[in-house]
Amino acid sequence: KSGRRPLIAGNWKMNGLRSSVPVVEAIRDGLSPELTSRIDVLVCPPSTLISSCVAAVYGSAIAIGGQNLHAKASGAFTGSISAEMLADLGATYVIVGHSERRAYHHETDDGVHAKALGARRAGLCGIICVGETQEEREEGRTLDIVRAQLAIGVPKGAKASDTVIAYEPVWAIGTGLTPTPADIAEVHASLREMLGQLIGAEAAKVRILYGGSVKPGNARELMAVENVDGALVGGASLVASDFLGIAAAY
Ligand code: G3P
Repeated sequence: KSGRRPLIAGNWKMNGLRSSVPVVEAIRDGLSPELTSRIDVLVCPPSTLISSCVAAVYGSAIAIGGQNLHAKASGAFTGSISAEMLADLGATYVIVGHSERRAYHHETDDGVHAKALGARRAGLCGIICVGETQEEREEGRTLDIVRAQLAIGVPKGAKASDTVIAYEPVWAIGTGLTPTPADIAEVHASLREMLGQLIGAEAAKVRILYGGSVKPGNARELMAVENVDGALVGGASLVASDFLGIAAAY
């Protein structure tokens, strides 16, 4: 009804060795053509596994993405990986500004903006993450926080083809806690309104995912919320049957 194609994305974080590639194969084999005719499915493994995961999903409907990037295309940045390098491996998406990057690697909204531009430059779709901490929620600042993160993070001229937004309340990540459907609806509506201010009519086409303790048992309820166009899944994306159970919410 929204006209937006749902996206179910898995973020493996710093989990998975080569022995984990069969997880992506099991996801590939468990997705029916009927389902993938209606939704997009993405797995973001650690960078070390991107090549083997791209090979594993070759010819299937699953996309592979990175979890982070350096904003520049190349240069003297030891240990960093550019959008061009991710694209070169066959990745088509990249997560930008995950709260763990913001918390542990001091990523700022300006940095997120630069990385989103880097993703676009290389033809990757950037998944820009926003979300409030527990303290910020308790202080009633949720909407102010996520709107500011969006306003600074989203580059001018962002399009639905190069940009996805993910709302991930920090306190809901890996905790088993989730906001109520009403709370999610309020945040997503506010994000969509802010997007409208930033990019005009294109805002109606941009997918806004919810992330934070999405599991097979709550996916249906969460994915039914207005303006929720899919999920960014952490822990449950490491288990093929759980990830498939979440995708089945559609
Ligand atoms: O990026 C997804 C993530 O932060 C959510 O993690 O484990 O709560 O699904 P989890």
